[in-house]
Amino acid sequence: ASTTIAVLVGSVRDGSLNHQLARIAAENAPGSTAVTIVEGLESVPFYSEDLDSPTGIPAAAAALRESVGAADAVLLVTPEYNGTLPAVLKNAIDWASRPFGEGAIKDKPVAVAGISAGQYGGKWAHDDARRSAGVAGARVVENLTLSIGGAYQRFAEHGPADDAELVEQIREVVTELANAVAVAA
Ligand code: FNR
Repeated sequence: ASTTIAVLVGSVRDGSLNHQLARIAAENAPGSTAVTIVEGLESVPFYSEDLDSPTGIPAAAAALRESVGAADAVLLVTPEYNGTLPAVLKNAIDWASRPFGEGAIKDKPVAVAGISAGQYGGKWAHDDARRSAGVAGARVVENLTLSIGGAYQRFAEHGPADDAELVEQIREVVTELANAVAVAA
């Protein structure tokens, strides 16, 4: 694959719909694109400048930075928690934003997707994730957001992988994100 995308997922629970969506993105990526989920975000300590030392940082934080830094683009897949992005995803963005001016996420094209219970599909969380990633130095791709609402009803009988429309939509997001890499290169 010529283009690599790292996925940060905002839910770390077993059976997370958003983690399932991330897997769909990985499994349905176009041929020239490799999509990899960055696992283990629950093990990344809360960001602290005391931990963020030039001589070494916690292993899980280092792995996160390495995964994001090695990718051509970043896809954020997240539910909404209380009207914004979950702390675990914000924490990952914070680690990827530093050292200031040279963070792992700097200049990477970023898109956002996710499933939430509410009717707007986590739009507030997605807006906030886009804003935070942008402040962190990412190149947030305009209009590349997929907010899927009504999760409890929509996925009561079957999972996201059996939702043909959703599979096609997330595939399109991945394709457009990969295209944004090509434009930047
Ligand atoms: C939620 N949920 C939720 N949904 C929403 O649309 N807007 C919201 O503000 C919130 N707030 C919220 C807070 C907390 C603490 C939890 C645990 C949940 C519901 C949420 O969208 C739903 O549980 C999703 O299924 C969570 O995503 P995963 O874990 O399935 O990926």
